Amino acid sequence: MKAVRYHKHGGPEVLQLEEIPRPAPSEMEVLVRVHAAGLNPGDWQIRSGYAGDRFPLPYIPGWDVSGVVEAIGPGVSAFRVGDEVYGMTANSGACAEYVAVPVTQLARKPAVLSHIQAAAVPMSCFTAWHALTKQGRLQAGETVIVNGASGGVGHFAVQLAKQAGARVIGIASGRNAPFVRELGADQVIDYTAAPREQPLWPADLALDTVGGTSGDLLLNLLRPGGRLVPVAFGQYDLEKAAARNVTVTAVQLLQIGSAALEDIARWFDRGDLQVALDMTVPLAATRQAHERSESRRARGKIVIVVKPDSV
Ligand SMILES: NC(=O)c1ccc[n+]([C@@H]2O[C@H](COP(=O)([O-])OP(=O)(O)OC[C@H]3O[C@@H](n4cnc5c(N)ncnc54)[C@H](OP(=O)(O)O)[C@@H]3O)[C@@H](O)[C@H]2O)c1
Repeated sequence: MKAVRYHKHGGPEVLQLEEIPRPAPSEMEVLVRVHAAGLNPGDWQIRSGYAGDRFPLPYIPGWDVSGVVEAIGPGVSAFRVGDEVYGMTANSGACAEYVAVPVTQLARKPAVLSHIQAAAVPMSCFTAWHALTKQGRLQAGETVIVNGASGGVGHFAVQLAKQAGARVIGIASGRNAPFVRELGADQVIDYTAAPREQPLWPADLALDTVGGTSGDLLLNLLRPGGRLVPVAFGQYDLEKAAARNVTVTAVQLLQIGSAALEDIARWFDRGDLQVALDMTVPLAATRQAHERSESRRARGKIVIVVKPDSV
């Protein structure tokens, strides 16, 4: 089969399209004929070497996947050959024509989404939902700030927070303000403007998808007793947070399970959620997709189309 992989960590140029043996599904796995693979910043972070030797080389990137069950491994009864599925691999490998995936991390693809759209969903949407509801304990009527509201995680977070009955303030560049408003944000603060607009309401919860040094800004926008949930690694003044009685949760690395994928599929099928695609590229152009993601300018999601006639 064709797969994109790399033999050493480095820039996008280390990605190579190669011919390698097709994997076989182990116990409680299915072999998925990959139609599309979603790209997450973790893909290029691992490729760059941020995770050190945790993932052995040569390495096939891609965690988010949508495709069709080609074969089933021993013990599998939940899926049959021909089922259209989406989910998250256990150890990447989705940038290939076939990947073996544990059945516990797969569900039936949302019927209203194409494989290309479905591949964009699992990690970002689950991360946004988990950060808002599990880590952030979001309640209806609260005000949420989403930092990075136009990105892969952020654009789902804005929609999910609105669905939960919250008031949403998105932080995005002016270029992306109309997009974030269309997603449902009540106010968009342009982080590139000087002076910066003030929030119309004190926030109960802030979701930080940007990280770096933008955390202090969020601490200033939260009400005393508020909650800050980072999903990216950032620098936060913990003394200042303590003085304002703001709790800052730790970043969690998440694996999505079938039950959450089924819930998320239902939300799409009901029309409660939309996915925005920034860019799609064929498998052979995975390098361009990594370059785009690494630019940190993606509006919505980037997807690698593995089966060229896929819709
Ligand atoms: N914990 C987990 O399990 C988990 C899961 C998924 C992702 N993550 C992490 O979460 C982070 C976000 O992921 P993502 O997929 O959402 O990233 P992304 O899609 O690459 O984010 C790009 C977006 O960020 C916006 N942005 C960049 N700098 C900004 C700033 N200073 N203020 C506000 N917006 C800014 C960009 O808008 P402009 O072009 O307008 O600036 C762009 O729309 C990454 O670090 C990723 O590794 C963690």
